[in-house]
Amino acid sequence: MTSSPLSDLGLDLPVLAAPMAGGPTTPDLVVAAAGCGGLGLLAGGYRSVESLGDQIEDVRARTSVFGVNVFAPHPLPVDPALYRAYREALRADADRFGVELPPGPVEDDDAWSDKVDLLLASPVPLVSFTFGLPARAVVDALRRAGSVVMQTVTSVEEALLAADAGVDALAVQDAAAGGHYGTLTPDRAPSPVPAGGLLPAVRTAVDLPLVAAGGITRAGQVAAALRDGAQAVMVGTVLLRADEAGTSAAHRAALAGPDRGDTVVTRAFTGRPARALRNTFIDSHDASAPSGYPALHHLTSPLRRAAAARTDPEFVNLWAGTGYREATDEPAGDILRRLVPPP
Ligand SMILES: Cc1cc2nc3c(=O)[nH]c(=O)nc-3n(C[C@H](O)[C@H](O)[C@H](O)COP(=O)(O)O)c2cc1C
Repeated sequence: MTSSPLSDLGLDLPVLAAPMAGGPTTPDLVVAAAGCGGLGLLAGGYRSVESLGDQIEDVRARTSVFGVNVFAPHPLPVDPALYRAYREALRADADRFGVELPPGPVEDDDAWSDKVDLLLASPVPLVSFTFGLPARAVVDALRRAGSVVMQTVTSVEEALLAADAGVDALAVQDAAAGGHYGTLTPDRAPSPVPAGGLLPAVRTAVDLPLVAAGGITRAGQVAAALRDGAQAVMVGTVLLRADEAGTSAAHRAALAGPDRGDTVVTRAFTGRPARALRNTFIDSHDASAPSGYPALHHLTSPLRRAAAARTDPEFVNLWAGTGYREATDEPAGDILRRLVPPP
């Protein structure tokens, strides 16, 4: 790896285990990624500051090579009338699971400033952001504290904005990625993919170390991303069934079960576009779901929790990238090592 803030993190394998909020990322998964020479990121999203702090200390006690991902605020307020209509559309499902849905929109920022304060008080090697682009003062403060700062981008325009904000590296997220798109414009149709692909276009536009993410499950794809100018790749979906992952039983069963066809992009669960396995919830509600994050996340959360507790995959957000069929039940280290065969 050419010398850069990323290579200085001490990776032997150019592979990052993506942060996966909502359960799949565990301290064990992050430690396993470091154990095979890669790097894993804890998922700070949806987690209390206390719990994130505990996870950081757990990982820090076992490895010095890791990162933390935080959702940077990017409120997408929901239209209250559309919220009420969508809540009404979910009523029958909520009744069936015996759960109450929040009567009005809950708009929060996932404890943003407390999480930044935690990372300033107790710095970690790598901090990454998605959803929003933090102010330059936040980026500078984290860098001064000794962290490498990485921003998720989904277009050349976003890459240029992130470079202007002073980050050290970019996670270039392709549309094939599982889970939420980290786009800065979630209420608009995605920018057209540049001819030749997003990664080479970002490589040409921005002089920062790049990490390629989205749909990567095989060694050949890793080699292609490195040839196209990435310093490393980041994988999520291929690790969802790993032994160390905290993926719910319903999610694991759906990934391993009868083929669900192509993944789809939906805002039905959270009000922000995300790629998932198709299920009954998406088929029933995708067409009527308004934009609105995090209000829709909070609206559907009780339903999803109740469904997960019953191991019912039809009402759970089954985040998955296009490569979900390649996810395997194995130790994460074996999965990651296979992506970078020895020369
Ligand atoms: C279940 C799941 C949860 C995710 N959660 C986060 C997250 O909390 N923060 C983040 O920056 N990206 C998140 N992502 C996106 C990943 O960072 C990454 O872009 C993606 O997994 C790469 O594509 P792949 O899933 O095809 O490997 C998530 C992806 C999945 C599959």
